[in-house]
Amino acid sequence: MMIWTTVLGLAASCFTWTTAMYHDKKGHRNLQYLIEPPVYAEVLGRREGNATLPCVMQSKPPHYKVKWTKVQPNQQGVENIVLITNGRDQKHYGAVGPRASLRKAHSLDASLQLTGLGLEDDGTYRCELINGLDDESVTITLRIEGVVFPYQSRHGRYKLTFTQAKDACAEQDATLATFKQLYQAWTEGLDWCNAGWLSDGTVHYPILHPRPACGQDLLPGIRSYGPKHKSKDHFDAFCFTSTSSGSVFFLAGPFTFAEAEQGCRQEGAELAQVGQLYSAWRFAGLDRCDGGWLKDGSVRFPITIPREGCGGLPEPGVRSFGFTNKSKR
Ligand SMILES: *[C@@H]1O[C@H](CO)[C@@H](O)[C@H](O)[C@H]1NC(C)=O
Ligand SMILES: *[C@@H]1O[C@H](CO)[C@@H](O)[C@H](O)[C@H]1NC(C)=O
Repeated sequence: MMIWTTVLGLAASCFTWTTAMYHDKKGHRNLQYLIEPPVYAEVLGRREGNATLPCVMQSKPPHYKVKWTKVQPNQQGVENIVLITNGRDQKHYGAVGPRASLRKAHSLDASLQLTGLGLEDDGTYRCELINGLDDESVTITLRIEGVVFPYQSRHGRYKLTFTQAKDACAEQDATLATFKQLYQAWTEGLDWCNAGWLSDGTVHYPILHPRPACGQDLLPGIRSYGPKHKSKDHFDAFCFTSTSSGSVFFLAGPFTFAEAEQGCRQEGAELAQVGQLYSAWRFAGLDRCDGGWLKDGSVRFPITIPREGCGGLPEPGVRSFGFTNKSKR
């Protein structure tokens, strides 16, 4: 009886204490003009879509400017200004600027609207209220909904420098993935035993089912090699892609690579890039149990409903035969 009371008492006071700390901490920021967004606030967008990043004032100082910047991902020390406004006029900067505007849904609204979202718009943004000495700011994350896929050179495993990895992703309708995107993909089931470059120049690989061949650590997690030399070290790549306005369809062969190219052309289309196939698999539910040529010369097929004889694995995914002899059908 005694023990129970003590435990309960402790639990109760501990809870009160944490709550108090949370309020203290929040109060400490002492935001006078801006409203703090919820801690986990995140805005979701899709490629080619629009998004609004909320930033709302509690009250308006007599003279102020609002400055929106992109904080991450970022080259070290470079401030990526998107837009500055004094409430009337707006100035736009950089790659995001021309697609940015203030929503102004009401007189206290400083929210940022972005149109024509691209893969590289993914990241964290800061809304800063500049008011003499008392600048204050809030940050909000824009997450582009997408899919991460590992990519290997046609010359084999671990053949790509950082720049080559970046180019390889671009050729597949993708960008190098950020750590956050890889992490998200890992939570969604990505398990891959080859290390690949990420957009910040670090090298990682995601493991859900630990096995001796995939690192010493026997816990599931993202294994890290840390930052690597961008021109001397060679790895695979983790690419990130999202929806696009096109669509992927299957053309029944059998085709050599050249015949497949021509077959697509006759349909007013072209061979799909690897990123486009992943996007169609993920967002349009494309499912086909036959290998098909892609533009890079690899042969793959997308499975959304795993079944006997379709690549063996119990999980949905895009299966690969790798880079095949182009004169094979
Ligand atoms: C995005 O905004 C633009 C301009 O306001 C509009 O023309 C377009 O239809 C919007 N796109 C989507 C997907 O809502
Ligand atoms: C590809 O296949 C063709 C025909 O089967 C063969 O003649 C050729 O040597 C092969 N090329 C390579 C690089 O294996």
